[in-house]
Amino acid sequence: MSGVAGSVQLLVLGGGGFLGRHIATAAVRAGHDVTVFSRAGTAPVDGVEALAGDRYDDLTALHGRTWDAVLDTFSDPDAVSATASLLSGPVGAYGYVSGMSVYHPAGPAVPGAGDPVRREGEATEDDPLQERSLAKLAAEAALAERFDGPTAILRVGVLVGPHDPTDRFTWWPVRLDRALAGDAERTVLAPGDPDRVVQYTDARDVAEFAVAVLDRRGEGVFDTVGPGRAQPLSAVLDACLRAAGGAPGDVDWVWAGERYLRENLRDVEEEQRPLWFPEDQIPQDAIDASGAIRQGLRFRPAEETARDVLAQLRAEGRTELTAGLDPDRERALVEGWVGV
Ligand SMILES: NC(=O)c1ccc[n+]([C@@H]2O[C@H](COP(=O)([O-])OP(=O)(O)OC[C@H]3O[C@@H](n4cnc5c(N)ncnc54)[C@H](OP(=O)(O)O)[C@@H]3O)[C@@H](O)[C@H]2O)c1
Repeated sequence: MSGVAGSVQLLVLGGGGFLGRHIATAAVRAGHDVTVFSRAGTAPVDGVEALAGDRYDDLTALHGRTWDAVLDTFSDPDAVSATASLLSGPVGAYGYVSGMSVYHPAGPAVPGAGDPVRREGEATEDDPLQERSLAKLAAEAALAERFDGPTAILRVGVLVGPHDPTDRFTWWPVRLDRALAGDAERTVLAPGDPDRVVQYTDARDVAEFAVAVLDRRGEGVFDTVGPGRAQPLSAVLDACLRAAGGAPGDVDWVWAGERYLRENLRDVEEEQRPLWFPEDQIPQDAIDASGAIRQGLRFRPAEETARDVLAQLRAEGRTELTAGLDPDRERALVEGWVGV
């Protein structure tokens, strides 16, 4: 594989999903020939070949084909083992999307590639990350065992940006846009400590990095969690306000305490909470992405992500969001906190 525009044939397993779509887009933009594989068998963007199949029991569409590289976003270790075996030989390099939660909760405050990872039988009872992290680790191991060729493991964190089905980031520019337009209260509930550093990555940045790594047959483990610099949540929310056309002072932030929110939002799933990760849920202070940054990973500014998600929502005409709070609930939480 040369990395010369037009010469790279890339297969994206899961290429119809949130990250897969951005990987396909980045690869097409780089001039590559892209094939995606999913049950739906539909192309996420123009100019992409789409194959239909099922990771669990139907890989027929991949038989007899060759590609320069494959990028896999799946989590089931047996399914990853099956494609790693099948594609070992017909494919030159294998990239696999894993997660940052694989790091051991008792490890360093700022872990990076090479630090201890989770182990079977060591989770606390209410640890939602243990099971899926062990699956990712088993998939990483299956890949190492079954694929004969360069492998790149991309450990990602919370992914945000256009087409994010969770809307965890999207909710903020939308909420602020509504406030500025007079369609929502200008008093805005914000979670926890304004100075707490928040980590997330625009999926387009991970996608561009993944394509670049596969282009050069990069090998190893890459932590691809942003922002690569200390960015407090208040700075991210200010960037969202600017993206919505506002300026400091246009809204009144009410920063409600961690314990108060935890007690009052028990019924709200993690993925519905907009960029609020309880302190006891993510055990690390941060993830060290310096290795990936040295290899070319770049993080776009929060304001750009916020502008782009607003533009995409407007283009879609979508008004309902997956994450966030309805206005009555938010108002009640603000009143409850201010009265505390
Ligand atoms: N989003 C985040 O914040 C986040 C955070 C940490 C880690 N990750 C990891 O990042 C990776 C990519 O996530 P994503 O958000 O892009 O996922 P996603 O949006 O759920 O996409 C999943 C893709 O896999 C395909 N797929 C699902 N089941 C399949 C099957 N049985 N056979 C063949 N294809 C199948 C789906 O298409 P069909 O349904 O048509 O088959 C779709 O194209 C995942 O490994 C995830 O664990 C994501």
